[in-house]
Formats: sequence, structure tokens, C-alpha cells
Amino acid sequence: MIRVLFVCLGNICRSPMAESVFNGLVRQEGLADQIESDSAGTSDYHIGELPDPRTMEIVNKYGLVSNHRGQQFNVSDFTDFNYIVAMDGKNLANIKLLLPSGDGKDQVFLMRNFDDQGQGEDVPDPYWSGVDGFENVYQLLLRSCKNFLTFLKEKHPSLKPQ
Ligand code: 4NP
Repeated sequence: MIRVLFVCLGNICRSPMAESVFNGLVRQEGLADQIESDSAGTSDYHIGELPDPRTMEIVNKYGLVSNHRGQQFNVSDFTDFNYIVAMDGKNLANIKLLLPSGDGKDQVFLMRNFDDQGQGEDVPDPYWSGVDGFENVYQLLLRSCKNFLTFLKEKHPSLKPQ
């Protein structure tokens, strides 16, 4: 099983949405028995909480699912997950500060390094925005997650649709 962890600050907006979008693509491609994802926040602000209602609006609108509860990123995640994908540069830097060893270049990634429209940019924090901010996050997560899944398939040629 390939395990992916998406990480933002609060774990109620961007990263649970990324998890739902990515899991939806993985299901569509028949890879759900070989790839799974989860999400976490670098902060402890929303531990145990459901995703933000605006995140759930998007999840429902696009026929996705989420049973997620907020959890905080932990150093043990470096052993539990093959890939850790940060939503923005600040969270990426905070994750890297916790790296037990090495530079993490084959394990820790920035989400929008996989976005062909806005490469290397942050997934903007929609928490203080309206529903339109969440729609924008959905669109760029969809592009990024598609390309990230292509990257995984190239990296792991043994992945086979079931
Ligand atoms: P997220 O958004 O990092 O995408 O989950 C935020 C959620 C909550 C807060 C900040 C960002 N907060 O400050 O509580």
C-alpha cells in the first residue's frame, strides 16, 4: 500500500479537501486497494473536528466523501506515510523542521509543484474567504491531484488497476 498524507495548517479546509479529491481519483482509476490517503494539520487548532462546512459543501457538490476528523501532524508520520504533500510553503517548511534525517526530497512535496497552472505556488488558505475561495481551492487541487497521481503511477510501475 502506498500511503499519502496531505498537510495544511488547520486540517479542516485544504488538506481534507485534497484527501477527498485524491481518494476520488484513486477510486476512479481502480487503485483504491493500492493507494490510500489521509490528512493532517501542522497546528493543533481543530483536533477532532469535522471539516469546515464550506469544505463539506464542495465535497458534496462534487460527489466526494469525507469522514475526516482533524488531527495534528506528528513526526511518526514520516514513518507511516510514503508521501507527505504540503499545501503551502509555510507548512512545507514546518514539516521539514521536524524531519528526523535527510532532506526529505523523495518524501515531502509541495502540492502545487504538481499544478501546471501556478507551479510552486501555495494552495491559498480559504478559511477567511467565502465559498468562492473553496471552489478555487477545489479546482487547483483537482489539477494538482491528477498530476500527482500520474507521478505516482510513473514512480510505481507495479500499480495496476483492479
Ligand atoms: P486549513 O485552513 O489550513 O486549510 O485547514 C485553516 C483553518 C483554520 C485556521 C487557519 C487555516 N485557523 O486559524 O483556525
